[in-house]
Amino acid sequence: MSTRRTVLSGIKPTGKLHLGNYFGAMRQFLDLQEAGHELFIFVADYHALTTISDADTLRGLTADIVLDYLAVGLDPERSTLFRQSDVPEVTELAWILDCVCPKGLLDRAHAYKDAMAREQPVSMGLYNYPVLMAADILIYGSHLVPVGKDQKQHVEYAQDLQEKLNNTFGAELLTRPEPMIQESTATVIGMDGQKMSKSYGNTIEIFEPGRSFEKKIKSMVTDSKGVEEAKDPETCNVFALYRLFDPEGAPALADRYRAGGMGYGHAKQELIAAASRVLDPLRDRRAELAANPEQVDAVLQRGAGRARARAGETMDRVRKATGLR
Ligand code: ADP
Ligand code: TRP
Repeated sequence: MSTRRTVLSGIKPTGKLHLGNYFGAMRQFLDLQEAGHELFIFVADYHALTTISDADTLRGLTADIVLDYLAVGLDPERSTLFRQSDVPEVTELAWILDCVCPKGLLDRAHAYKDAMAREQPVSMGLYNYPVLMAADILIYGSHLVPVGKDQKQHVEYAQDLQEKLNNTFGAELLTRPEPMIQESTATVIGMDGQKMSKSYGNTIEIFEPGRSFEKKIKSMVTDSKGVEEAKDPETCNVFALYRLFDPEGAPALADRYRAGGMGYGHAKQELIAAASRVLDPLRDRRAELAANPEQVDAVLQRGAGRARARAGETMDRVRKATGLR
């Protein structure tokens, strides 16, 4: 590996993780872990409070995401997995950043502007969301922040606030983060042919139970070519998903598409089989973890300890530099 970088990502616990999240985001975290980088991955439960107002729901969704991440292969020996709210120092840094953040910056934030345009109620939590996210990024001294395009503006805000704080209180105070935009990965398509997304209700969950997984694959839209006709794999959603699960086997399946004599029903069966080969071991691991909550708690406690230690170092410097100590 070249230089070891500190990589940070937060996941808002707002629903079950789907294949778009898996191939579009989680797989890249695992690659970064394999490459030897230092990963901080947290469940953004403070952020979720802007939309969730039921304690059991928040606790349940948070626990689910932790299990999902461990099951797909995030290794708590090498990586730090924790709950955002286990490091309350992050809200302290958010306040300090608030004090150097021009209000105009937040007036221009996409999420706030969208909510205003749709005449939705805006809480101070939603308005201030980018500052808390900047604090998340800056408190661990993150170098790289892998995010989808929709989050790029937030990482740029973190850069702006890092610069502001350093210019005001000391050049070396906080490390400059860089966004790592996940556009190299293809967009994963949902059952209806649009981008797979919670907001379109077209998702296939990573840990969708077998029956319902199969049902969803069978309901994926295709064109109406008959069994005998030659088909184009490159325009087929079923093939696109197959290729993600089985890149090596994909050329052989593509040949069968082009040759004719294979219906979409068959292609879907092949997809179900390929997905099972990848997902069954993850499902088994998740079930094992779910049966051992004390083991998962121990992982979170260890993660919180490591994250808090790192955050504490940053906050010592920030408190001194600002005159709070
Ligand atoms: P959703 O659109 O379901 O709300 P999120 O915005 O929570 O998904 O996604 C979190 C991350 O997962 C994104 O930043 C992106 O990197 C990845 N991701 C989500 N959906 C897809 C998709 N359909 N294809 C590729 N990557 C995706
Ligand atoms: N805002 C991100 C999202 O909605 C979640 C998030 C919170 C995050 N804090 C972060 C992502 C810090 C990366 C870094 O997806």
